[in-house]
Amino acid sequence: MDSNPPLKIQGCLGDVTLEQDHVCLKGWVTSIAGEPIEGFKLIIGDQEITQFKLENNLPSPDVYQLFPTLPNSNQARFLIHIPLEVIAPEQFNHLVQLIPLVNGEEGEILFNLLESSLPVPEKEDRLGVGGSFKFVACDFLGHFINKAQLKPHESILDAGCGVGRIAYSLAYYLDDTARYEGFDIVEKWINWNQSVIHQHRPNFNFQWANIYNKRYNTEGTIKVENYSFPYADEQFDFVFLTSVFTHLYANAVQNYLKEIYRVLKPGGRCLCTLFLLNEESEALIKSGKSSQNLIHEIEDSFCSDLEIPEASMGHRETSVMQWVEALDFTVSAKYYGLWCGRTPGTSYQDMLILKKPK
Ligand SMILES: C[S@@+](CC[C@H](N)C(=O)[O-])C[C@H]1O[C@@H](n2cnc3c(N)ncnc32)[C@H](O)[C@@H]1O
Repeated sequence: MDSNPPLKIQGCLGDVTLEQDHVCLKGWVTSIAGEPIEGFKLIIGDQEITQFKLENNLPSPDVYQLFPTLPNSNQARFLIHIPLEVIAPEQFNHLVQLIPLVNGEEGEILFNLLESSLPVPEKEDRLGVGGSFKFVACDFLGHFINKAQLKPHESILDAGCGVGRIAYSLAYYLDDTARYEGFDIVEKWINWNQSVIHQHRPNFNFQWANIYNKRYNTEGTIKVENYSFPYADEQFDFVFLTSVFTHLYANAVQNYLKEIYRVLKPGGRCLCTLFLLNEESEALIKSGKSSQNLIHEIEDSFCSDLEIPEASMGHRETSVMQWVEALDFTVSAKYYGLWCGRTPGTSYQDMLILKKPK
């Protein structure tokens, strides 16, 4: 594995709220090496905010419960109050970037939004892609930037874009020279994305693929294992799939990896999330600690529900590594997740960052 630099911090900026005379930022952060968080650099839109009141190292029993082995996770919460008069009015409806400072250096950026006005889909549709709509949108924007070096001008493919959850934060991050393409198998969601996100950001385009999936599209007529992405070769700097391989059989994952390799430019990157089965996750599943009971083997994949296997699917880590290496991808980073009851973990699902050679 050609490794990315180690992460400095773990945390999240969970809430940004507008109060009567100030904006309040709430979240938690700790340094992975156990060093103190010395402070924060704060940017709203394109304005650096230097005047704010910080309360740091507040008790965080909930964080400790999830990350007991992470240093200082029991005192990781912070509260930041920014007086309203220091925020220029044009910075509302923009990204908030909070950068923890550790040992004189900047740690990974935590993202959220200040009074975002881009509409969100109906609750039923938000739940259909896993919920926590804006939180997940901002969390993954952070993963893309901190772990895969995403830049605002790049050309991006969101394979299995759902109802625009990740597109939501990208709509605030990518500039007008960027290209965003998304496709999904749920027609209603693609229509929503086209009528809302594309209307606001014309360089965001969405396409429907009528592929069969027992969980998401039982009327689909296209077989996923034969599907060719509707884009020419070597178009994208960055391809991502968030919580999509967790709904696909092994042969479909293999086909998608081949398609991702084809559409990536030389040197391009892919971030994908999965449930990887290995000694640790299998032991946790056996001991009843996992949130996904992936015990039924079916067509080289593992599922928890034999009635609707695509509701949640895992794959052997050794097989996934063989597939990506056979395609000549480099695995530039692997971050194990919390899904199986593992602690600590970087995100809920496991995450891989693949690189196509230059
Ligand atoms: C849990 S949702 C995640 C959606 C989106 N990636 C996100 O993070 O919000 C899973 C998505 O995978 C899509 N999906 C399932 N099979 C697919 C396939 N063969 N190709 C593309 N998308 C697929 C579903 O329609 C659904 O939108």
